[in-house]
Amino acid sequence: MSKPTPAPAPQLSVVILAAGEGKRMKSRLPKVLQPLAGRPLLAHVLDTAGALSPASIRIVYGHGGEQVRAAFSDATLSWVRQAEQLGTGHALQQAVPEIPDADTVLVLYGDVPLLRAETLERLTAIAGAGELALLTMEPEHPAGYGRIVRDPAGTVARIVEQKDASAEELRIGECNTGILAAPAGRLKAWLASLRNDNAQREYYLTDVIGLAVRSGVTVTPVRLADPIEALGVNDKEQLAQLEALCRRNAARSLMREGVTIVDPARLDVRGKVTHGQDVCIDVNVVLEGRVRLGDRVRIGPGCVIRDSRIGDDTELFAHCVLDGATIGAGARIGPYSRIRPTTELADGVHIGNFVEVKNSLLGAESKANHLSYVGDAEVGAHVNIGAGTIIANYDGANKHRTHIGDKAHTGSNSVLVAPITVGEGATIAAGSTVTREVPAGKLTIARARQTTIEGWRRPVKPKKK
Ligand code: UD1
Ligand code: CA
Repeated sequence: MSKPTPAPAPQLSVVILAAGEGKRMKSRLPKVLQPLAGRPLLAHVLDTAGALSPASIRIVYGHGGEQVRAAFSDATLSWVRQAEQLGTGHALQQAVPEIPDADTVLVLYGDVPLLRAETLERLTAIAGAGELALLTMEPEHPAGYGRIVRDPAGTVARIVEQKDASAEELRIGECNTGILAAPAGRLKAWLASLRNDNAQREYYLTDVIGLAVRSGVTVTPVRLADPIEALGVNDKEQLAQLEALCRRNAARSLMREGVTIVDPARLDVRGKVTHGQDVCIDVNVVLEGRVRLGDRVRIGPGCVIRDSRIGDDTELFAHCVLDGATIGAGARIGPYSRIRPTTELADGVHIGNFVEVKNSLLGAESKANHLSYVGDAEVGAHVNIGAGTIIANYDGANKHRTHIGDKAHTGSNSVLVAPITVGEGATIAAGSTVTREVPAGKLTIARARQTTIEGWRRPVKPKKK
């Protein structure tokens, strides 16, 4: 006998409610675009939703909607406008008409960014079996949340909003996170029968719970062990609280992978960090975007590193700022160095205090140890950029390139006016301003010669009578 083929699991349609105004943010930036760990709140929600491989993601937008749409150009997203904010139920009504009845719908909020995909998978599995799955929690302070009302047998009967609740209902500790999943066909029917005869004159999504129970559909609550996952962002204080959680989580996972972090509360990761073994990070470091740290990399206090790669055994001393840099192995950078985009430093390069390097290549073992600017330059290996060397790369309209051959030395306080080529092994005397090719292997001096005036006398003031 052939086994009957099991019904295929329903497709998942995710709806993200994000039309709320976010008044308490007191910001021109729409709430869901406020950054958390370096990325908009909504980006976090989209990441988690994407991890579930849904058939579609719909975002219900309203206030500042065009700005939100512009920030997420991903063509796979569908945008649904809710012209007037008439409540969470009304918001979902706008999004469901195009969703096939056989789908499972998962409702998320654009301002609840920390939910884990595993939690959501539990909800969608329940809804996939034809039930309504509701994510609940027991927060320390339930004030403001909808309360989960159970019947005497303990089954979920309905949700009552804070503003509509009786004194007795307000004592219920179990609260609605707002996140739920349900079969699309049933959900559409319940949404169609919502009414706004409540304290806020709104169409409450929460009323679908009671409607489901009345239509004989089981409501299965999934209670979060830790309500942190369902924390929403309504104001700047909550945003900072979530930022602290992200900070803690990122530091924890790096430590679990073997990174030494001097103080996990003083490391900010705002992006993705990959690393080798025995990496050590001192206090007050900010890592942004994509950062790759090789084996035994040491990062001194106060460094800010964005979108950069750092090779094995390289050490950054205190207060360096790196952006879009690629640094080889065994390099020594800082303290107080600034490395700007599209700079590549080869193995063993030393960049010292108050040195800025932009859009330049420095070959192996080259050094710029003090007070210099190196911009738009290709510098060979074993070059010594003397203290105070400035590459004048900009004529007010155009940027020009500089080429410096291997083993060249530039004297202290020299200015190289680009475009210019400095030959291999050339030496530029201290205080020179060079504007033409500097030949290889020779000393080039471009400064006024020192003279001494014999018999010169300093003027004297006439004596007062
Ligand atoms: C809602 C729930 C409440 C739950 C709480 C959890 C309802 C009626 N209440 O309350 O039970 O405890 O979330 O935080 O659902 N939104 C729209 N359009 C609207 C209204 C809201 O898109 O017209 C969006 C908001 O942008 C937000 C989400 O829906 O992302 C929730 O809205 P919010 O006003 O914060 O809901 P609460 O009143 O806090
Ligand atoms: Ca809210």
